[in-house]
Amino acid sequence: MTGRVEGKIALITGGAQGLGEAAARMLAKEGARVAITDVNIEGARKVAEQINATRKGAAIAIKHDVTQPEQWVHALAETHKAFGGLHVLVNNAGISAGSDVEATSFEDWKRVHEIDLDSVFLGCKYAIPMMAETVKATGLGGSIVNISSISGIIAGHNMAAYNSAKAAVRHLSKSVALHCARKGYRIRSNSVHPVFIATPILDPLVQRFGKEEAYAKLARQVPLGTIGEPDDIAYAVLYLASDESKFVTGAELKVDGGISAM
Ligand SMILES: NC(=O)c1ccc[n+]([C@@H]2O[C@H](COP(=O)([O-])OP(=O)(O)OC[C@H]3O[C@@H](n4cnc5c(N)ncnc54)[C@H](O)[C@@H]3O)[C@@H](O)[C@H]2O)c1
Repeated sequence: MTGRVEGKIALITGGAQGLGEAAARMLAKEGARVAITDVNIEGARKVAEQINATRKGAAIAIKHDVTQPEQWVHALAETHKAFGGLHVLVNNAGISAGSDVEATSFEDWKRVHEIDLDSVFLGCKYAIPMMAETVKATGLGGSIVNISSISGIIAGHNMAAYNSAKAAVRHLSKSVALHCARKGYRIRSNSVHPVFIATPILDPLVQRFGKEEAYAKLARQVPLGTIGEPDDIAYAVLYLASDESKFVTGAELKVDGGISAM
């Protein structure tokens, strides 16, 4: 039996921890070779080493600030050097921000958009040419998976910048999908919209209320009654990365315990 993304090459940003780490492990488990990038190179190396301990040569770690164009060029070149191309780009790196429109400084507004939105633009812009070549050469389909948020679909009073950036990621994903389709690249582009998932991104809340109470507070807002686990999102990434979703592009996959159904 072969893996669901056997033979594919993937680059996952923000792969040192949380959802990026889970996606990298999942894709590697299902047969992909993965480039794990992050500003936290120590964390990325640790994840890559653990993957390589079970599948030698399946992972590399690259220091990469997703807001910097030249670092995208470098990360893609390193991936090409190690694995020979790229089929799957997971634009996952991001930060959360909780403040209302009046309380948000212009600096914070710009920083959130830089890390959560500009990074996705840069990733698509720089990766698509290499992905198109790899798809052509290998015959395996290409896929861009952009990790937005349920906050890109439903708004909160105190999430001005995050709501804005994540909503833009949703729409950018659709523009990229249509561009790639028009060009005949066989590269799809979709967005994923998680609700609260247990990762270090929730640390500020955990520090304030303690883990149990923080998670319970969030869970009370979710119809299914719990917050999610990183693998809940990794399975969505796996589906969109694999050719099982070959007819899915420009879609938004909500993994939200039902919160947006209300
Ligand atoms: N966990 C959740 O509840 C949740 C819900 C909805 C959406 N998301 C989104 O999922 C993505 C991953 O979140 P997470 O929960 O794993 O967060 P996390 O904080 O655990 O991990 C984020 C990773 O991104 C890296 N990173 C931050 N800025 C970077 C930069 N400029 N360049 C490169 N790497 C950078 C960090 O070093 C870290 O390893 C984010 O885009 C987040 O907005 C998370």
